[in-house]
Amino acid sequence: MTLTRPFVVLISVLFFNTGFAKEPILPIAQSHDLNAEKVALGRKLFFDKRLSKNNELSCASCHQLTRNGADNKAFSDGVNGQKTTAKTPTVYNAVFNIRQTWSGARKDLFDQVDAPITNPREHGTTWPEVVHKLSSDLALQAQFKKVYQSPINQQNIQHAIASFEQSLITTNAPFDLWLKGDPNAINNEAKKGYQLFKDYGCISCHQGKNVGGNMFSKIGHFGDYFADRGGVINDADLGRFMVTNNPYDKHVFKVPSLRLSTIQTHFFHDGSQDNLDDAIRIMAKYQLGRSIPAQDIQSIKTFLSSLVGQHPELTNTYETK
Ligand code: HEC
Ligand code: HEC
Repeated sequence: MTLTRPFVVLISVLFFNTGFAKEPILPIAQSHDLNAEKVALGRKLFFDKRLSKNNELSCASCHQLTRNGADNKAFSDGVNGQKTTAKTPTVYNAVFNIRQTWSGARKDLFDQVDAPITNPREHGTTWPEVVHKLSSDLALQAQFKKVYQSPINQQNIQHAIASFEQSLITTNAPFDLWLKGDPNAINNEAKKGYQLFKDYGCISCHQGKNVGGNMFSKIGHFGDYFADRGGVINDADLGRFMVTNNPYDKHVFKVPSLRLSTIQTHFFHDGSQDNLDDAIRIMAKYQLGRSIPAQDIQSIKTFLSSLVGQHPELTNTYETK
């Protein structure tokens, strides 16, 4: 049977909505299949300072949810005045990343909860200590029994926090509304910026639902980023090499999401840039071997700002420099 042309058009409209399936960036949809009790328990734990040595800090100390799911520092403050060796990434939309942390050392959100608890530069404690402290809280113990039908243990703490993190997704970004077919959801400057983002080749690494987070790449395809940066090269700078021990993975990082980059204050794993214009300039230079005029940077920034979606906890959407 030969389909007539109007019929084919109708089918493609039905299947592809307005065609966003052809775009390299995908909209974020609301997730519906989360267990509300586990999410609520996980939220409580995310803000619980008993998860750290001396009850000094919680996940939310570094991953500030009103802000952008991170803090406004190059390196964050861990227990006992220690500093992290990598910039804190956002927890918003982290669920969409292929792996967790800059080097991809952690498989998923569940696995990742383990990392900060025992890291001496972050929570600096041990699981037995955390389980012991939380277990003496009878109300919390009762809540765990109700939600997990089991006493507090490492596994259900990790599970609850990871469930909460799955709810940290930003929806209805103007760009997503545009992808879904509203031609007026973003202005012409943002449309121009998106075209430039594709034309320069940013899209070859920053793509998919999270505009990043779905592949690894070296920093410094053109030029030696680290030699030019100067300073000591630490473990965090070695990136994925620390996980695989493969020399080709030196300075290879998970491509970060750009969903919230315009409400972020510091950029790159080493937090070396505090200005988005400079971060974009560095990307063009070291990843694409190009220089990029200020006018194009402005358009790309306007496009990037249209990627910022909504979440009830995300209230402080101040602009970056
Ligand atoms: C002292 C600051 C600090 C605290 C406290 C902290 N984190 Fe982090 N978080 C970081 C840093 C720094 C990284 C990046 C580590 C790396 O790449 O090696 C990170 C990475 C992550 C990531 C990976 C995100 C991505 O895109 O790869 C998640 C998820 C996360 N943390 C969740 C948590 C949870 C859950 C807690 C509480 C149990 C927590 N963090 C406590 C600083 C912190
Ligand atoms: C070849 C892959 C690749 C290309 C092309 C690329 N990037 Fe990146 N981008 C990365 C990687 C990897 C990082 C993380 C580098 C690091 O932290 O050291 C990154 C980081 C960034 C950051 C900082 C995000 C953060 O959370 O710190 C911004 C902003 C950015 N890229 C924008 C762009 C723009 C705009 C373009 C096009 C001009 C571009 N990138 C092209 C791979 C790429």
